Amino acid sequence: MVKKPKVLLTRLLPQPGINLLKKYFELKINPEDNIMSKEKIIEKIKDKHGLICLLTDKIDAEIMDAGRKLKTIANYAVGFNNIDIDEATKRNIPVTNTPGVLTETTADLVFALILSTARRIVEADRFLRGGKFKGWAPMLLLGNDVYNKTLGIIGFGRIGRAVAQRAKGFHMKIIYYEPARLSHDIEKKYSAEYKSFDDLLKESDFITIHTPLAESTHHLISEKEFSLMKKTAYLINTARGPIVDEKALVEALKKRKIAGCALDVFEKEPDVEKELITIPNTILVPHIGSASIETRTKMALIVAENVIAVLVNKTRPPNIVNPEIYK
Ligand code: GLV
Ligand code: GLV
Repeated sequence: MVKKPKVLLTRLLPQPGINLLKKYFELKINPEDNIMSKEKIIEKIKDKHGLICLLTDKIDAEIMDAGRKLKTIANYAVGFNNIDIDEATKRNIPVTNTPGVLTETTADLVFALILSTARRIVEADRFLRGGKFKGWAPMLLLGNDVYNKTLGIIGFGRIGRAVAQRAKGFHMKIIYYEPARLSHDIEKKYSAEYKSFDDLLKESDFITIHTPLAESTHHLISEKEFSLMKKTAYLINTARGPIVDEKALVEALKKRKIAGCALDVFEKEPDVEKELITIPNTILVPHIGSASIETRTKMALIVAENVIAVLVNKTRPPNIVNPEIYK
């Protein structure tokens, strides 16, 4: 019998993915449900042909050097800023991600956050549980409407468009920013209007970020950007923490430059800027954008299929992020 290729998985995933992987590979799984240390990854990667990692694993040249037999890296996420792609490409290692399946799930969370922040749902829940509900009151917990408001979408890719689709149902005015304007057909399909970055900041009642983290988007939203926003605007970030300057965000909230924010991602996860925690008009959730049972299961199957493509079928994986190595 031919020996199965060896694959390292840095943390337990939903079972259907594990079952599929075990069919084809000798699978080594981090035995603990925690983030695998770099030292441990370096120790375990030595004889492995494939690495399945998470967005919480920073995969750099040192790890790739230790993995002398490494033929592929599969990230269990759509974002892949945790992996040094240039270093992987230099070593001819195909890197893959899990796009598509988490688009709608993440867009659902964006809407949950838009509604929760505008209608003060989390605050209202705390109020009631705190025993403060003494009966209906005309001025109790007044929030802001969502319908008919202007939604500014920064980054109009898959997730941005799925958010726009939902916003249409709320009769929102949809504006978007992308470095290059999109086709008329796409704009028409989502009833979305192109704006310059500054105009989007000035005109939006809700601003939601759907751009990957790269050098060009690091601190894309900082002091200057907050000063352009409406005082009544809400900022939603489910993309990557470092796209927003967290210190500038705290200042903007304290000085009432904006009305509130809802964050699923943070600059230094799992640490959160201390002051954010004390500011009431914020909703903070622990990076759960893709966290539905259905989607996390699909992501586990996709991650497995990508590794099977490279190590078993010796073909180009379906979700390659550095396709130049196949040119
Ligand atoms: C989650 O943040 C992902 O990139 O999949
Ligand atoms: C990610 O799936 C995106 O393109 O928005």
